[in-house]
Amino acid sequence: MEKIQIDLGERSLAVHRAGHISGGKPIVLLVHGFPLSAEMWSDVIPALSGDFELLVPDLRGFGANQAEEGPFSMADLAQDLDKLLTAMRINNSIALVGLSMGGYVAFEFQERFRHRLSKLVLCDTRAAVDSAEAAAGRLSVADRVLTIGTKAAVEAMLPRLVWSESTKRYPGLVARIESMMYATHPSTIAHAQRAMAARKSFVESLPSIDIPTQIIVGQHDVISTREEMNSMAEKIPHAKFSMISDCGHMPPMEKPQEFVKELVAFLK
Ligand code: MLT
Repeated sequence: MEKIQIDLGERSLAVHRAGHISGGKPIVLLVHGFPLSAEMWSDVIPALSGDFELLVPDLRGFGANQAEEGPFSMADLAQDLDKLLTAMRINNSIALVGLSMGGYVAFEFQERFRHRLSKLVLCDTRAAVDSAEAAAGRLSVADRVLTIGTKAAVEAMLPRLVWSESTKRYPGLVARIESMMYATHPSTIAHAQRAMAARKSFVESLPSIDIPTQIIVGQHDVISTREEMNSMAEKIPHAKFSMISDCGHMPPMEKPQEFVKELVAFLK
């Protein structure tokens, strides 16, 4: 995926731009999950390129960006996206699509930069914070990653990311995800884990989201379950709930065609 580097001042951000650039089509910003990169959207970009202008960044420290040596928060990642739009002189309202950690960033973005949004799509993500046990697990993975490397995060996450059947049905899928994970620097992984452990809850603010919103979830997602995402959809006024069948936590990679169909039906 060819990316351009956009200068945000104190850092630059890699972004892939595709589709109808400056062609007056709706702009869609695709925000990746953890510990992945813009690459996770590569199976859906061709199909979305016909109808939209796509901006697909690597978040701070991930993908083609420099490793992140200092702490950051989910709000910092949202602020980076605002700066990215400013640097790219994008003033039109955009649709923001965030998956999992990208969804945590999307919650922060809609709270701070509501004026920039026309639509919000929350995929396989959570409004609630972690349990004390899950947060402690993240902190321990953060420590282990800094000692033994990215392997610690891959071992903790990979088995839970895709539906077990997808692993069998789509040979190569897990290897692609694994190589994306291994490409992520340990210090970025550690700081992102600490940031997610400290993220704020958006459960109470769901009823005040006033942007047209879609919730997409893989039927067998064990990280952000369909029950939890359905209850999130019920709390957001007029939210559209879409479930992708035979799929785990990664619909854009496990079921790209079905994902595109649901997304386009909402965005158009
Ligand atoms: C992700 O896919 O971004 C992660 O599952 C997020 C998380 O660890 O909560």
